[in-house]
Parts: sequence; structure tokens; C-alpha cells
Amino acid sequence: MHVVDARAFDAVSDAVDQVNKIKGAKAAAAWDESSKFDTEKDKSAFRQYEAACERVKNFYREQHEKQTVAYNIQVRQNFKKTVRARMGIWEAMETLDKLVDDSDPDTSVTQIEHLLQTAEAIRRDGKPEWMQAAGLVHDLGKLLFFFDAQGQWDVVGDTFVVGCKYSDKIIYHETFAGNPDSKDSIYSSEYGVYAPHCGLENVMLSWGHDEYLYHVLKNQSSLPVDALYMIRYHSFYPWHREGAYSHLTNADDERALVAVKAFNPYDLYSKSDDPVDPVKLKPYYEELIAKFFPEVIEW
Ligand SMILES: [Fe+2]
Ligand SMILES: [Fe+2]
Repeated sequence: MHVVDARAFDAVSDAVDQVNKIKGAKAAAAWDESSKFDTEKDKSAFRQYEAACERVKNFYREQHEKQTVAYNIQVRQNFKKTVRARMGIWEAMETLDKLVDDSDPDTSVTQIEHLLQTAEAIRRDGKPEWMQAAGLVHDLGKLLFFFDAQGQWDVVGDTFVVGCKYSDKIIYHETFAGNPDSKDSIYSSEYGVYAPHCGLENVMLSWGHDEYLYHVLKNQSSLPVDALYMIRYHSFYPWHREGAYSHLTNADDERALVAVKAFNPYDLYSKSDDPVDPVKLKPYYEELIAKFFPEVIEW
């Protein structure tokens, strides 16, 4: 594994979430009315995170300049070439937690806590086991940071479509000016390399922990398609919150959108729930893991 600055990684990852909470607070009524667990929380409390914006903007500038079509083709080819690790889900959770937590004692919520809090909030609302399982694993793709990522820009942050015009609904859209694809006559056109309504399944989303985990789990789990949608699209805010890309989506994506919107509040707002005890929860989740995943996964 790479020697990396896990503290900086977690700080950026947290700040990205914070900005999405701020934006979410503004649009809250539109999409989280069906989730019960967070209705008591004061979403205005998340305004304190406005300070995160400057750090986040610098992060997005780098990401938006480097997530090109060429990079995305290359990284997908590399993905298929190697197995980076062999381990089960719980071990992956502990590995991610240890790697980040070792160098960042100040982080508000550890990685394993975030995964368990997300799953627990879903469980508490009486949602199905497959959705609890999706919540439990949804950020394990962040292990990428310790494998072969080039930085934070290809692990975390909101995702978007590459290979066509960068939507103006993408956060800090203006920072795409430095991406060479913005000057490419095809990649900067409305449909780019895609056919109208070809479906998200057929577009290339910017590479990061969502896309990586989706590719790892689609053939190594018995998760239903809605769980895979939650995993693959949970950072795809320009689409699931801002309504971009309706010229590319198809009927399947309507279903995906319902799933992702149902999942999003658990990801964003469960961090302020009561602390969880991994030791106590482990037996329940080990049993859940066994229902949907093989003992060992090739990462
Ligand atoms: Fe995530
Ligand atoms: Fe998350």
C-alpha cells in the first residue's frame, strides 16, 4: 500500500460531505421527507461548515482539471489488471478505519463509525437488509486511496459524467476551464461520445470511491440492483440532487434515482447520531455480511 497522508485525506473527505450538507439543507424538503430518523435535527447547525468551502474549492479545482476521458479510460484498464487485496467486508472496514484513523485522531467520526451509523440509521427505520448492507459498505471504495489512487481527486468528491459537456450543475463548474476536455470539440458537446438517453449504465462517471466499489461488488455480491445504484451513484450530486443529465438518462435511471434519493439522507445526516459500538454491533453485521458477500473479496 502507498504511504499517504491519511489525515489530509479524511479532512477533505469530511469537508466535501459538509458542503453537501449545506447545499442539502437548502433543498432538504424536496428529497428527505420520506426519511424519519433525521426530522428532529436542526439542519441549520450544518451552516458552521461554510468555512469548509475554500478547502473544498481547491480540491475540486484539481479534480475538475484532472478527470479527463483519457484518465478515466486508463484507470479502468488498470483496475482490471490487478487484485489489490483479498479480504472480507469486516476486515475491509477495519482496514479503512485503521489507515485513516492512525494519522487523524481528531476526525469527527471514524470511517467504521460512519459506515455503522449509516447502516444503523437504515436499520432503525425498518428498511430491508440489503439496504442496511449497502449502507454498511458504501464508502469502502475509499480503500482506493491506499492502493493506487493518484491523490484525493480520484477517490472522493461529487462525481459527474466525462466524455460530454461538463454540466453547469456540477459544484464549482467554472474550475473545468483548466480541463483539456473542455476544449475538445466532441467532449465539450452536449452529448459528447454518447447517444441521447443511452442510460447512465453506458456513460463514464468520473473515477472515485463510488465507481471503484461498484465495479468490485457488482460481480462479488448478491446485492440487488437498487443497492448497487446506491453504491455507484451516492456521490453523483449533479444528477441525484440537481437534476442534470436528463438528456442521457433512460427509464432504468428513474428507478435508480428513487433508490439513491432514499439512501442519501442516511449517508449525510447519520454522522451526528449517537456513537456506535463496533464490538457490540459486529455479530449482527457479520451475519448480514454473510448474506450478501463472499467470505473473501478481491479488491
Ligand atoms: Fe461516499
Ligand atoms: Fe458516506
